[in-house]
Amino acid sequence: MGGEMRKAYFGTNMKMYLTAAETVEYVTRLASLTSDINRDCLELFILPPYTAIRAAREAVDPSLIQIGSQSISWENEGQFTGEISPRMVKEAGASFCMIGHSERRNIFRETDDECNARIACALRNDLRVLFCIGETSYDMAHGISDEKLAIQLKLGLNQVPAHILPYIWIAYEPVWAIGSGGKPADPNYVEARHRAIRQTLYNLYGPDGQKVVVFYGGSVNRDNAVALATQPSVDGLFIGRSAWDADNFNHIIRDVMLALEI
Ligand code: PGA
Repeated sequence: MGGEMRKAYFGTNMKMYLTAAETVEYVTRLASLTSDINRDCLELFILPPYTAIRAAREAVDPSLIQIGSQSISWENEGQFTGEISPRMVKEAGASFCMIGHSERRNIFRETDDECNARIACALRNDLRVLFCIGETSYDMAHGISDEKLAIQLKLGLNQVPAHILPYIWIAYEPVWAIGSGGKPADPNYVEARHRAIRQTLYNLYGPDGQKVVVFYGGSVNRDNAVALATQPSVDGLFIGRSAWDADNFNHIIRDVMLALEI
């Protein structure tokens, strides 16, 4: 995981499930279950619904669990009914935001250019970005997965300079592997895509591009977590359903850290 970087990265996207009260219960349990793990070796985050960000932030020590938002607008303010500004999620306690999750891209029709504008707005507001990319089953069937990932990276990171890269995390999530209808990706397939992602980042940024933290996400569970996380080009796991039980998430974290000898 991350070559010589002896740090494990884990996060969960809570989607549109928990209320603020339910989120507090979850995050408090997750913090207490994992509190003995040295945070120099572990980066742990959750992405609650917007209305739960403040309560989650107040419930746990920021050094134990980072809180992010599931998206943000491409503007700080304006006539954008239903959108949320980076200023608002920051005020609520988010230190970073996710951009381009497959459900945003596929259900809400977010384009690569919109992702790019949202990323720029997040960075203008000093929010770290978790940028999600992933190919569809159609892309995979036609042998264009790596081309699709390269397009998403090139358009999404357009105009993002190399010195900003420490503020960017990438999550590779094949669309066909995500959610209740998804099937887990084979670890060798994941490694090959991560290598392609790293090559594109290298082409764009040179050696700086290779230091970017890249997560895998999509149907990660306790059975496949170690095999996925121990792939040499995988830095972390980004998990939905299997992390929504704090005890199960804690087990996954410990299984992986043990396997990586962290
Ligand atoms: P899943 O979700 O782990 O439930 O497949 C992953 C995601 O949507 O990021």
